[in-house]
Amino acid sequence: MIVAGNWKMFDGPDPRALRAALGDLPHVVAPPYTRLRECVEAGLTTYAQNVHWENEGAFTGEISAPMLQSLGVTGAIVGHSERRLYFGETDLGVARRAHAALGAGLAVIACVGETWEQRESGDTETVLRVQVESVRDLCGTHDNLVIAYEPVWAIGTGKTATPDLAQDAHAFIKSLLDLPVLYGGSVKPDNAAELLAQPDVDGALVGGASLDIDSFVAICRAGS
Ligand code: PGA
Repeated sequence: MIVAGNWKMFDGPDPRALRAALGDLPHVVAPPYTRLRECVEAGLTTYAQNVHWENEGAFTGEISAPMLQSLGVTGAIVGHSERRLYFGETDLGVARRAHAALGAGLAVIACVGETWEQRESGDTETVLRVQVESVRDLCGTHDNLVIAYEPVWAIGTGKTATPDLAQDAHAFIKSLLDLPVLYGGSVKPDNAAELLAQPDVDGALVGGASLDIDSFVAICRAGS
């Protein structure tokens, strides 16, 4: 069971205070790049919010797996829907990021998910199939790889997928690629236990609620 906090473009909580509050609870934090070192030094399990497929080169604004590893970062999120939506990331690019990061020895959370329009028009499985298969074709199953199912309509909206809906999507994803699947989209302390109790929900990727120490710790506790 993994509970990962995606701080997005927020400074987030004080890493030392968070570390102390977490005690022995398993956790991952993905702060903005400027706070990676501080999180590592505080003893938090620290992932980046993205990673490039090359080790170095003329790729303005990008960061590579070896650069992250030099800070003590142990994993990365790839393919978050905000990267796909606002920054034009493609299925192939996401798969290449995942593949390179895994090859370098980072753990990877690869995100997939449908928009509300896609769900309404009955395209959820088609969308998930394309996104998951592009990761599968390049990376296969890998001990360091997990998928995060994040319905785009549930991210930052307060609309959470029902436990049944999440369970169905997770089971479908696992039928394509047999890996742990985290749920993401408005996970809060009051809905975490019910979501995490679903047989195919193997953890959570938490945005807004990971910025508050008490609520993130409560969700980590629900997952432990
Ligand atoms: P949210 O974000 O928990 O704020 O909905 C989840 C995510 O984007 O990973």
